Amino acid sequence: MKTSEIRKLFLNFFKSHQHIKLKSSKIIPYQDPSLLFTNSGMVPFKNIFLGKEKIKYLQVVSSQCCVRVGGKHNDLENVGYTNFHNTFFEMLGNFSFGSYFKQNAIKLAWTFLIEELKISKKNLFVTVHYKDKKSYFIWVNEIGISKKRIFKFDKENFWQMNNMGPCGYCTEIYFCKNKNLDMKNISLLNKKNFIELWNLVFIQFEKDIKGNLYLLPNTSVDTGMGLERIASIKQNVFCNYEIDVFKPLLNEIKYIINVSNLKKEYLKIIADHIRTSAFLISEGLLPNKKSQGYVLRRLIRRSLISGYKIGVLKPYLYKLIDILDTIYGKVYKKLHSFKENIKKIILKEELKFIKLLDKGMI
Ligand code: SER
Repeated sequence: MKTSEIRKLFLNFFKSHQHIKLKSSKIIPYQDPSLLFTNSGMVPFKNIFLGKEKIKYLQVVSSQCCVRVGGKHNDLENVGYTNFHNTFFEMLGNFSFGSYFKQNAIKLAWTFLIEELKISKKNLFVTVHYKDKKSYFIWVNEIGISKKRIFKFDKENFWQMNNMGPCGYCTEIYFCKNKNLDMKNISLLNKKNFIELWNLVFIQFEKDIKGNLYLLPNTSVDTGMGLERIASIKQNVFCNYEIDVFKPLLNEIKYIINVSNLKKEYLKIIADHIRTSAFLISEGLLPNKKSQGYVLRRLIRRSLISGYKIGVLKPYLYKLIDILDTIYGKVYKKLHSFKENIKKIILKEELKFIKLLDKGMI
């Protein structure tokens, strides 16, 4: 199943269950100075969860463009060295603002995985917070999954966007690659077997700067499933970089760089960082020395350093924008319409940095 088909299936499934489909909100959350980037699907709704802002709809669904570089959720250093970390990714999420809570959230997620994506129950495991007896009860008695497949944790099952703000217990669904697992000896931390798939957060509290928790007047739901990750499961590759949206990009990098000893890590770093950079520039960000612009500059420079380490000292990142447009342009219209500008901005930054590299100043 193609990544674009999964995105569509998800949005349509929740639409058919009375959710309003919203477009991805901006990656740079201009309205929220506590964050550099939108790092999960719930960020655009933060004030709604806190009861500070009203929304016309009680139930929404989105595929949100997220960036996790800097702040509490920072995946930069992992990129290149793991199968699932990306600095940019799309997060599929359904949200309830004071409407349904644990029971429906769990039922909807389960139905989507089993009936729409046709994932076998044998592959699925869940975690709950040890104090969250309600979720445990729903999984066992209403979904009917074996107690052996449920694990209880503490802080791992408490989700917060940042050090303060809306937060709450969560229950996570894990995919296990190995159907013949020895059920007596399971560790979800064994990354060889388990992939963290879908996080269902039950927003109940607001955390203040000192870490105090206050009950919110309404309970809400915030779920998030990485699109690339679920695509890697449906495409049976278990690595984000091997799914249909990355393959053509990686092939293009190999073709353009044309170096025989291109290490896999560098290839992943270049692919990841140029994708993030292109999306950020499509939103009007420029590489510079300040906050988000600094991160963008760092991503471009980090990709160039990966090329430099294998002897490439010429601009090439800007040439990858065409293939990104082919992959994403139909869904993300700005990437398509700003394509030529994105190329110019990247090329300018490449030339600047290559000069420094050439002079040995880095
Ligand atoms: N906010 C939660 C997460 O990012 C669920 O969407 O995991």
